[in-house]
Amino acid sequence: MLPEIVTEIPGPRSRLLGEELHKYESRNVTFISEKFPVFWDNADGINVWDVDGNRFLDLTSAFAVSSLGHKNPSITDALKKQACKLLHGMGDVHPTELKVELCKKISELTFEKWSGERGKSILSSSGSDSIESALKTAFLHTGKEGVICFKDGYHGTSIGSLATAGITKFKEPFTKQISHFGFTVPFGESGLSKVIELVSSHNIGAIIVEPILGRGGKVVPEDSFLPALRDICDKHNMVLILDEIYTGFNRTGKLFACEHWNVIPDIICLGKALAGGFPLSICTGKPNIMDAWPVSDGEAIHTSTFLGNPIGCAMALESLSIHSDPTTTSNVNKKSQFFINTLKKIQHPYRGKIRGKGLMLGLEILDDLGNPNGALATKLINDSLKAGIITLADGPTGHVLALTPPFNISNEEILWVSQWLEESLKTSN
Ligand SMILES: Cc1ncc(COP(=O)(O)O)c(C=O)c1O
Repeated sequence: MLPEIVTEIPGPRSRLLGEELHKYESRNVTFISEKFPVFWDNADGINVWDVDGNRFLDLTSAFAVSSLGHKNPSITDALKKQACKLLHGMGDVHPTELKVELCKKISELTFEKWSGERGKSILSSSGSDSIESALKTAFLHTGKEGVICFKDGYHGTSIGSLATAGITKFKEPFTKQISHFGFTVPFGESGLSKVIELVSSHNIGAIIVEPILGRGGKVVPEDSFLPALRDICDKHNMVLILDEIYTGFNRTGKLFACEHWNVIPDIICLGKALAGGFPLSICTGKPNIMDAWPVSDGEAIHTSTFLGNPIGCAMALESLSIHSDPTTTSNVNKKSQFFINTLKKIQHPYRGKIRGKGLMLGLEILDDLGNPNGALATKLINDSLKAGIITLADGPTGHVLALTPPFNISNEEILWVSQWLEESLKTSN
């Protein structure tokens, strides 16, 4: 369904809720201004309705979670069925059968498929949680505390994952509090010599990397980059942690982004689209690495209350059966090609390069001199709401318009979005 023009943003109900929220929520959480936000009420497929009844085309998949569409019918059914049976279990004490099924399924789709080895998992709730699991596992396995991470990389905001953040804004206020085991180097080929230097001068046990930078601006590295990191880790007994929280589950046109380069990680972290809308994440690794953890003596030393929640597991199993169907992947690639071709036709000097892969695309917004234009990207995000579109911007200068829609976006909707972009660029100077 094509978007409709929205007359008032935010509408009266959203405005009121914004004022209320501002009084009761920590002020750093929700950005509230004259133009932002709209409060979501319900959603279906690619459409979202706000509390004032306005309909929007969601080009974000709500942070790349609703890849299979908002309220995907079979995932919603799985949720309803499970909700009538068991809402919550005892994740690490008396677990559910669903946890067994999910760990097996993830193993099948990752390490068993890649190398015939069984993958072993730690389940958790947020993406950051799975990063914590991965960092601890790598340390237990190697005994080496140092971790190499990349500029503009994002792995969450928990205190451990912050140590590996490549976006300084998130960690600067906590510099004194966070641990300093993370060494940040440039992302891509240009950072490799620094990686090698660090490996020979420091006690480095792991490299953590997003195969394609997500929040960092949809940056695809050179083809040699990930294989080079794999070689370095092999040579120096280091653990390669791939953060596929954003790129996982067909987002980039392969089930997992590492498959573009045939690189097998030691540990993969997954979240976001895993359960299609339930906070569930997983850290899966090679068995010899995961077995660095001692056998539980009745008290797990790394656990959480909601670990393996049955509703999340049921939703994830349904989501995985859709994601592992090759037609899901081929559909992403077809839509991606169409989107890229359409964006390329936008004739305007402010339209920069198209970044990314699959339906994890980014459009650079430039100024008269061809430089990054974060201010215009911000204006487009605000204006897009009035045009009935929800989008966000990424990258260190905020000039990369993120185009990460649910996979069921139609060609007609893609054309409409591109036309809107072209018109908006033309009227922006
Ligand atoms: C690549 C990547 N890693 C980790 C995270 C953190 O996940 P969460 O917000 O669920 O903690 C994100 C979130 O955007 C992400 O994009």
